[in-house]
Amino acid sequence: MNFLKKSEPCVLTFFVLGRPTFPVYLTKFKPMLADSFETIVQRRRSNRRFDPEVTVADEVIERSLQRAILSPNSSNMQLWEFYWIQSPEEKAKFHALCLGQSAAKNTAHLVVFVTRQDLWSQRAKWNLSRIKESLQGKEPGKLEKRGLQYYSKLMPLLYRQDPFGIFTGIRKAICFFMGIRKPFMRFGGKADQRVTVHKSCALAAQTFMLSIAAEGYESCPMEGFDAVRVKKALGLPSGAEINMIVSVGKGTEEGVWGERFRLPFEDVVFKR
Ligand SMILES: Cc1cc2nc3c(=O)[nH]c(=O)nc-3n(C[C@H](O)[C@H](O)[C@H](O)COP(=O)(O)O)c2cc1C
Repeated sequence: MNFLKKSEPCVLTFFVLGRPTFPVYLTKFKPMLADSFETIVQRRRSNRRFDPEVTVADEVIERSLQRAILSPNSSNMQLWEFYWIQSPEEKAKFHALCLGQSAAKNTAHLVVFVTRQDLWSQRAKWNLSRIKESLQGKEPGKLEKRGLQYYSKLMPLLYRQDPFGIFTGIRKAICFFMGIRKPFMRFGGKADQRVTVHKSCALAAQTFMLSIAAEGYESCPMEGFDAVRVKKALGLPSGAEINMIVSVGKGTEEGVWGERFRLPFEDVVFKR
């Protein structure tokens, strides 16, 4: 990868489906950034006891959510939503919905990460509009045509559902036959779609938590909650799913449950 050579100043252009949208300037590869990142990664621990006396400014959450929104996500479909729980009454309600666990108690804020697989059509149209807008009346080139096809044809093919599973059958058949002779992406029914949206949403949650650590506060991701009641409390439709809930606050030493244990590198990293 020539453009990532250590010492070379370079301009990296960000593409959506091969279409340049805005330039990101990478001046020089700076080890300093790696040091900061290392500090952030080491600093982030799941904290389960927050100091009730310390507040966390709204700007910290807002900045962190802005960063979360920049997370990589499948086809830029952004099939996610973030519910920021702020008021003391709502926080108390969500503490109960998180099964009364300590990680959800005395939090300065809670953010519910939600997947919105059901919004695929709207989000595909939104992406289509962005591409059309960028044309500014000009004829689409090869890359733009590919983008337009992608959101108008491929996304409906991947996400459309029907009560009889006809689309799932079509998708599975296409993948089977196309995959006989060469590598082909396998994408079938609802389960595959759920995995896709949850992957992207979890990446957003991770960006959020790293940002919270960088801002000098602590967080805890939670899957211990009553998903049915959380959905009801947020007024979400059946197509939405709760990915995880992240609590935020000023953590305490007691809030970290001991050393951080991880499997040895060799047990989980395989060089081929
Ligand atoms: C998807 C997910 C769900 C989790 N759910 C809970 C939870 O409900 N309650 C809790 O106390 N910790 C929860 N955790 C935190 C993990 O226990 C924690 O990340 C793990 O033990 C590693 O510790 P560390 O985060 O301090 O590195 C969850 C973490 C993840 C990624």
